[in-house]
Amino acid sequence: MSRNPKLDQQAREILQRNDRGGYTVPTHGLYPFQWNWDSAFVALGFAAFDRDRAWQEIETLVSAQWDDGMIPHIVFHQNDDGYFPGPGVWGTGKTPPTSGITQPPVLATIVRALWEQEGAVAANPRMRALYAACLRSHRWFHSYRDPLGNGLVMVTHNWETGRDNSSEWDDALARVDTSGVGTYQRRDTGHVDAAMRPKQSEYDRYVAILQFGKNCGWDHREIADHGPFRMVDVGMSMELLRANRDLLVLAEAIGDAEGAAEIRDWIALSEAGIDWLWNEEAGAFCSRDATMLESSGLVTNASFLAFYAGVGSDTQRARLLEALDRLTTNAEYLLPSLEAGSREYDHRRYWRGPIWLVVNYMAAQGLAEQGHADWAERIRADSARLIEKSGFFESFSPETGEGSGGDDFSWTAAMWLVWCGK
Ligand code: DGY
Repeated sequence: MSRNPKLDQQAREILQRNDRGGYTVPTHGLYPFQWNWDSAFVALGFAAFDRDRAWQEIETLVSAQWDDGMIPHIVFHQNDDGYFPGPGVWGTGKTPPTSGITQPPVLATIVRALWEQEGAVAANPRMRALYAACLRSHRWFHSYRDPLGNGLVMVTHNWETGRDNSSEWDDALARVDTSGVGTYQRRDTGHVDAAMRPKQSEYDRYVAILQFGKNCGWDHREIADHGPFRMVDVGMSMELLRANRDLLVLAEAIGDAEGAAEIRDWIALSEAGIDWLWNEEAGAFCSRDATMLESSGLVTNASFLAFYAGVGSDTQRARLLEALDRLTTNAEYLLPSLEAGSREYDHRRYWRGPIWLVVNYMAAQGLAEQGHADWAERIRADSARLIEKSGFFESFSPETGEGSGGDDFSWTAAMWLVWCGK
């Protein structure tokens, strides 16, 4: 039962308006191409009224998968000068042009959901093709992005995490040499208020990391071994573990015994390895530097994905719930992307406070599955209130509920249709 048919209609219209034919842009202007994890959540939204279009969204993304298995974070299906860094800056030489980095591995989880909505038929050809693509992508993660051998995900650019501007990356970014960056023109601040976007000094670092990749011909081994930015991301580590659990269900349905065995090994490795991210002082799983080994010590919305990944001892889970409770003292709405009071907290600035509904969705799903239906419902209700108050923004202030970033945002519309608006 819908809570608000008018908002349902608006959400469908946003997805249809942002549809560029087989793929959807996250929002007009600010993000004019296909983004990896955006498309995964958008597919869920389409599935609420057009199943065929839902599958197609992911199929279009996966058609740009690299030979080494990486699914890129942006696919540049057409030119648009309103975005920096465009395909020429990345210089990956792919057809269609793509960026040279990846994004959170949530695809397998969403493929499983679409497949189950269609009755979980083992012969489903669309599921089978996407299973194969996800398996290759997970293999890429485990072979290129697990230098410590503990099943956790190392990122080589903060843009890979999707939580681009989180304070978790500040110390590692501060060590990136920007002396060779040269001049370039940002486009993001032409679309939205600069106060909501990363600062210039941060952008220079993003570009420097990109240039390292380009200069080594996007050799992913070289980037993982010597790149200027190498962090183990708590968000992607949790997402990959969850995605492996969902991929295993598909492997077993198909009867791919070899694939299933490989996935089971990855799951066991990550389950045993996840403690490496636990920060006793913070009482949470936190991102950690892969080279300096220091923990960020920051409680972010990604810390709560432990429930979604199905990890944590009873004591760790109790501490996470304490942290969740603590957040409610400063936040009118959950889940802030950074705990208020942390250094660089800013309720309007990109990933330093604002709420993203896709993270809320994953966190709430995990909390519900792990026996915390009350917290799951609180997060769902807050998410619905944000849309009812402010519309379909990219993100929202946890203090005032005001929208920030891009407007008419595809995945926010999708989250309304499949989750918080229901
Ligand atoms: C941007 O341009 O800010 C994007 O988030 C990069 O993925």
